[in-house]
Amino acid sequence: MTALRSASAALIALTVIALSGCAPDSDRNSPRPAEFGYQKRPAQALLDEGQAAYKLYCVGCHGADGDGKGEAARFLRPSPRNFQIANYKFSTTRSGQLPTDEDLTRSIREGLKGSAMPSWDLLPDRTAAALVAYLKTFSSKWAQRRPAPAIPFVEDPYRSMDDKSQAIVRGEAVYHGFATCWTCHPSYVSTDRINEYLVAMENPPRAQFRPGLRRSDPKANSEGELVFPPDFKRDFVRAGMSVKDLYRSIGTGITGTAMPTWVDSLNFPSSKGDGLLVEPSDIWALAYYVQGLIGQRPVKLAEATFEVRNRPQQIYLTGEWPRLEAPPTPGGTETEFFDEDEFEEEEFEEDEFEEEDEDE
Ligand code: HEC
Ligand code: HEC
Repeated sequence: MTALRSASAALIALTVIALSGCAPDSDRNSPRPAEFGYQKRPAQALLDEGQAAYKLYCVGCHGADGDGKGEAARFLRPSPRNFQIANYKFSTTRSGQLPTDEDLTRSIREGLKGSAMPSWDLLPDRTAAALVAYLKTFSSKWAQRRPAPAIPFVEDPYRSMDDKSQAIVRGEAVYHGFATCWTCHPSYVSTDRINEYLVAMENPPRAQFRPGLRRSDPKANSEGELVFPPDFKRDFVRAGMSVKDLYRSIGTGITGTAMPTWVDSLNFPSSKGDGLLVEPSDIWALAYYVQGLIGQRPVKLAEATFEVRNRPQQIYLTGEWPRLEAPPTPGGTETEFFDEDEFEEEEFEEDEFEEEDEDE
């Protein structure tokens, strides 16, 4: 049935090529190999390599058919991604759109903190590229949809300021008064303060708020599973904690979940006619604010030193996040030093707070 369908699609594609005489590649009606459509056709050798690596590393969680039902899946929340549905959460593209290859590579290389998805940063580039190519064979969405554009990354107005408190104050106001992020995530200020922020942002004050305002309100995702919007003072954010990562997650929203795309709604004129009430650069303010909340998260482990790839590292007792130096030298071996479950909360990324020299 499927074979038949793709065979006839191939036939149609061939006919169109024959009729048009050539195969333009940017036109919407352009004929493409039926099974790859808008996807770049990868070399078969790359796909084979991807399949081999997938069977070795990924199958236990994501399943041989890419349906997210590997053997370990029933123990995991959030569940491993179902590549057949292809609702990829973390990308530079808006919620509901497919991610770019770089986005997939980033998720694979960096892993998703606070979930079972490990970081595969020791894979050779070629293997990572092969895996990305292979993942796309699980869903026809890749063939049917045009590649989506990345959201605009506007300039960070706070970047050169040593003291980020201006950004944090602005972020708190936008979070509580304009975007009302607390309808899903917790509120971090009193209800009186929320009302002050609402009024300052030209919204009516509220007499009533949802119960449990200081906690997250769980929301169902597209597959009917409950997901918790993170409480930034407590939970992990998955796709990175640098302000640039947070700009991306907040700006794009998260496909398949309630988390909206903010980049298009933070562009709103003031009713007083004096410019904009909120503007896209406010995503930076939100990112600094959220990062500040993350920085207040209590770190539970006792102060200790340990080694990662032969380099001494520190763990801190307070909410103070350590700044780790240069990335590890390639070729170093990874030291297995803890049980993943027990210490999951205390893993750090080298560049978590290095917003300065991050490259997208
Ligand atoms: C130990 C289990 C486990 C293994 C092994 C694993 N993953 Fe995952 N992976 C997960 C979980 C769980 C999620 C979903 C996390 C979430 O929803 O936040 C996920 C999500 C993903 C995503 C989705 C990112 C997004 O933006 O939505 C990709 C891509 C991915 N994994 C690729 C891989 C690849 C490639 C491999 C093998 C190299 C692999 N995973 C191995 C558990 C695993
Ligand atoms: C309608 C509900 C809703 C609203 C409103 C909302 N979020 Fe979310 N948000 C979610 C959900 C659900 C998730 C978790 C998705 C997941 O992990 O699967 C999330 C996740 C996040 C993440 C984590 C990304 C990561 O890497 O894991 C950040 C950061 C975030 N939201 C920031 C915000 C900010 C800032 C606002 C307001 C501007 C906001 N959210 C408004 C529902 C919401």
